[in-house]
Amino acid sequence: MKTEVAIIGGGPSGLLLSQLLNRAGVATVVLERASRAHVLGRIRAGVLESGTVALLTEAGVGARMMREGIPHEGCYLSDDDLMVRINFHELTGKSVMVYGQTEVTQDLYEAQSAMGTTILHGVEDVVIECAKDSAPVVSFLHEGARRTLTCRYVAGCDGFHGVSRGTIPAAKRQEFERVYPFGWLGVLSETPPCSDEIIYANSHRGFALASMRNPTLSRYYVQVPLSDRPEDWSDARFWDELRRRLPSDTAEAMITGPSIEKSIAPLRSFVAEPLRWGNLFLVGDAAHIVPPTGAKGLNLAVSDVYYLHHALIDALKRDDTRGIEGYSDLALQRIWKAMRFSWQMTMMLHHFEGEDSFAAQMRKASLAHLARSETARRELAENYIGLPF
Ligand code: APR
Ligand code: PHB
Repeated sequence: MKTEVAIIGGGPSGLLLSQLLNRAGVATVVLERASRAHVLGRIRAGVLESGTVALLTEAGVGARMMREGIPHEGCYLSDDDLMVRINFHELTGKSVMVYGQTEVTQDLYEAQSAMGTTILHGVEDVVIECAKDSAPVVSFLHEGARRTLTCRYVAGCDGFHGVSRGTIPAAKRQEFERVYPFGWLGVLSETPPCSDEIIYANSHRGFALASMRNPTLSRYYVQVPLSDRPEDWSDARFWDELRRRLPSDTAEAMITGPSIEKSIAPLRSFVAEPLRWGNLFLVGDAAHIVPPTGAKGLNLAVSDVYYLHHALIDALKRDDTRGIEGYSDLALQRIWKAMRFSWQMTMMLHHFEGEDSFAAQMRKASLAHLARSETARRELAENYIGLPF
């Protein structure tokens, strides 16, 4: 097989890159390890920055998002009973869109099928060879046979556990990491959301988040120790704990019901540099992970795709390689700023096991400062709605 851009991974990064490249007349092949149903079964965050909304629209996958997504002009941060509203619209003139990552992925799969692009599922043992040369080769197992794909460029969109990052020799790569000593227990339930806007809640019992997917589907999280397993949390225990961490008015009015999904995700900040090695490029979770406090994961993957698709189109259609030479530096500038924001939000809202009493006071003071200072709220809003691409 032969193509212009081999894309490893058919998550949101790989699919959006494929979509934008094919629309510009660049041929791609997407190699995805899992089945389409498996990819679409993953429940992930659901807040899209305005730049993400614009790029999805430009990619021709914005129609359902515009119909079913819920624009949010603000969010809340709470500290026990203190509620601080961050009015994105007033502070920045922009808003965000609540629309699940799963829906974005579904829309991308449908658009790709309609265009007739090649996406191979169930691909195993991907090996990227000759990425430093002008004709990289990707070999893989598919339907029991070993196959090879020759291409001009390889986009590593295969998430944190993929093979692309490790293809860059360790001596040429630097990694930066912070692992947080807790996880988020997430619950999806067919109940009306307890608030019309997302609530990020600090409390003396730890962090909680109240979010939503649509008027009848809620998404909630509570901070839990890493040693906990989802089976340790009955629905009743979960709702009790959530109520204790949310402001009391909201907690009292909250409608609860059976969970339809329950899982625990660890929190991590991670960046690998550089994002380019010869003709191989890292994109999205393959290169960086943010803790979900701030909803930056998908949005950061989208800004990588924005930079890379322009760079690849310039290289392949106009013989102009400046974009691919600058991709890593350009993308990393934005990545580090989103890293800082996600880390700061995480530190401001979570209880750290064994911390001293000073740490809890610092969180309280940060939230009290936000409540009184428009400058502080604007700084948060500017980051939350997304820094410019
Ligand atoms: N070969 C082929 N495919 C692979 C391999 C491999 N060796 N390893 C992983 N994959 C696939 C996974 O099955 C997955 O579908 O790559 C895809 C990577 O998708 P994601 O992990 O979703 O990463 P990405 O597309 O960069 O999405 C960005 O934003 O909100 C965050 O973490 C969230 O998934 C989200 C991310
Ligand atoms: C979610 O709705 O799943 C969600 C929202 C905001 C976050 C993280 C997750 O910061």
